[in-house]
Amino acid sequence: MTRHFLRDDDLTQAEQTSILDLAVQLKADRFAAKPLAGPQTVAVIFDKSSTRTRVSFAVGIADLGGVPLIISIESSQLGGKETPADTARVLERQVAAIVWRTFAQAGLEEMAAGTTVPVVNALSDDFHPCQLLADLLTIREHRGTLAGLTVTFLGDGASNMAQSYLLAGATAGMHVRVASPAHYAPMDSVVQSAREVASRTGGSIRLYTDAQEAVADADVVVTDTWVSMGKEIEKAERVSILGNYRVDARLMGLAKADALFLHCLPADRGFEVTAEVIDGPQSVIWDEAENRLHAQKALLVWLLQQQ
Ligand code: CP
Repeated sequence: MTRHFLRDDDLTQAEQTSILDLAVQLKADRFAAKPLAGPQTVAVIFDKSSTRTRVSFAVGIADLGGVPLIISIESSQLGGKETPADTARVLERQVAAIVWRTFAQAGLEEMAAGTTVPVVNALSDDFHPCQLLADLLTIREHRGTLAGLTVTFLGDGASNMAQSYLLAGATAGMHVRVASPAHYAPMDSVVQSAREVASRTGGSIRLYTDAQEAVADADVVVTDTWVSMGKEIEKAERVSILGNYRVDARLMGLAKADALFLHCLPADRGFEVTAEVIDGPQSVIWDEAENRLHAQKALLVWLLQQQ
């Protein structure tokens, strides 16, 4: 049966570990795997702007022996002109996999239900699971393990990054804390799914409104933009409500002395994080950005092996 990667808990803990192990191998020997030799084509569709995702998928597909076909929503029949299900049936006859950055998670689910090739979520309003594979790879590189570590996400708890941290962190057996105003709490259904996963992996899930309490003794501190794509009209309101969750040196000082700082980028220095933190010695953001390439290549290799 075709496997898709639409949300972080589509992988078991063992599967997530296998993909991260493979990512380490491909980082050490970048051209070792050529499952797309032919070359086969992978469709990479963008309904939203991107730098890291676009580059890392294009480069990664080429590294794997394939050809990336980058499609923007404006130049395709998606976006209300043709259904995801019909698009999927057209694409599956010609491409090896479909990677899609879009708005609604439901669109990805419709795309996946309509096709026999793997569909990968390259960011939706609800989840950013490819980013989490890169984040977990980065944390593992710097700490040697994932299970048992405490990771605190601060800011918009309803954002795709916060919700992916809940699911992916729980899958990895981490203790995941999300600190946000009540108004920006994660979806109940996501919290429930994360708690179910954590009960199997030894991880845990805790939600906070107090940023200082949430970050105390954390191994990893994470934030993301307060104004996710599609929320630009709410910027003034968000900046005013989320001010207490800014990651500055004082807040970072409450975490463990060697705590890592991660941010998926792009960043608004002075808003969700100060320059002294994101550009400081605890920040691993450049490793994190590079690891998009290695983690996504491993994911594609693994998904193609399941076919
Ligand atoms: N982190 C991330 O997804 O970056 P892009 O929006 O540039 O792809």
